[in-house]
Amino acid sequence: MSEQTTAFDPITLGSMTARNRIAMAPMTRSRAYDTLATADMATYYAQRAGAGLIVTEGIQPSMIGQGYPATPGLHGADQRRAWRQVTDAVHAEGGTIVAQLMHTGRIGHPSTTEAAGHGPLTPVGPSPVRAAGQVFTPTGLRDHVVPRALTEDEIAATVTDFADAARNAVAAGFDGVEVHGANGYLLHQFLSTNANLRTDAWGGGPRNRSRLTVEVVRAVTEAIGADRTGLRLSPNNGLGDTAEEDHPTTYRGLVSELDTFGLAYLHLVEAGDPALTPEIRAAWSGALLLNPAGADPLEHPRRLALIDDGTADVVSFGRLFISNPDLVTRLAADGAPLALPDLSKAYGGDHTGYLDYPTLVSTRSA
Ligand SMILES: Cc1cc2nc3c(=O)[nH]c(=O)nc-3n(C[C@H](O)[C@H](O)[C@H](O)COP(=O)(O)O)c2cc1C
Repeated sequence: MSEQTTAFDPITLGSMTARNRIAMAPMTRSRAYDTLATADMATYYAQRAGAGLIVTEGIQPSMIGQGYPATPGLHGADQRRAWRQVTDAVHAEGGTIVAQLMHTGRIGHPSTTEAAGHGPLTPVGPSPVRAAGQVFTPTGLRDHVVPRALTEDEIAATVTDFADAARNAVAAGFDGVEVHGANGYLLHQFLSTNANLRTDAWGGGPRNRSRLTVEVVRAVTEAIGADRTGLRLSPNNGLGDTAEEDHPTTYRGLVSELDTFGLAYLHLVEAGDPALTPEIRAAWSGALLLNPAGADPLEHPRRLALIDDGTADVVSFGRLFISNPDLVTRLAADGAPLALPDLSKAYGGDHTGYLDYPTLVSTRSA
């Protein structure tokens, strides 16, 4: 009789091997003050290398793709070189790490790109539709601005930017990349029915609104191989003021089209519509990483059961990985205490609230 698969068993994701099925979800930490990865970032990710797969914080594939202060890039040689210290540090601990490529689209502010040394750039999006709400900037929270609609030539250039950034990621030693198609950023803006009012091939029905996600994924797979490419999607989660009137139809079509690409994995943020998870699971023949719905991190150890019962192949944890660098060890020691993160230190600042969360072993010996 074969034994049941558990979250602590290894898994192959395309060309990558994860030593367990517990992934660190991507989390922006805004500590790359000149868009370059730092020695502190190398320490932070190496501390968390016990995860089967680390997905980095969102990384802009172009200057205009930067939506928040002090986020890192992968569009220049300096940035590529700086990431090498991170990938080397994680690999030295036996970990696996992919770069999340995040173009924030209309979520951004001219003062953010100005502070990053690129001059005040008006954020771009599918259509000149301002997102409700505010965005973090170097001078605090500010209202979103009306974005400039990308021209068709600029859309083609954006697709190329993602492919170039993916090549840079591999050159920097990453095991692969995760294309960020979720959480209200550029690709999700195109998928939505309220941010995308285009009447050309990139807007209108579900197929046209899905086109940018498909073309970015296609370009990235052509650049680095499908077996090193993952994609994150978040149907209907409403972030960044996105509305998706027809999300079941849109994601059904998108997932079945992308299924033919042979990607390393699909990373589903299920909170917007958990009822879709089984349907997407059935339509996706590759590995499914699930970021399960559930607000209370202390309940998150229950996520491991989703591996046992086959709901997903890998489960990802965000907040608990901030405050428990040895999260996998703690989860394996059933009932071990879990620390909660101080989210006032989530974005920006120094090593405090970043590198100083102890492991269980260091806590006990203290
Ligand atoms: C501080 C912080 C930063 C985040 N940044 C990103 C990001 O850069 N890219 C992304 O796809 N999701 C981001 N997320 C969402 C997480 O990946 C994850 O989906 C979310 O925290 C829910 O998982 P959890 O309940 O395990 O924390 C972020 C979440 C937090 C708490």
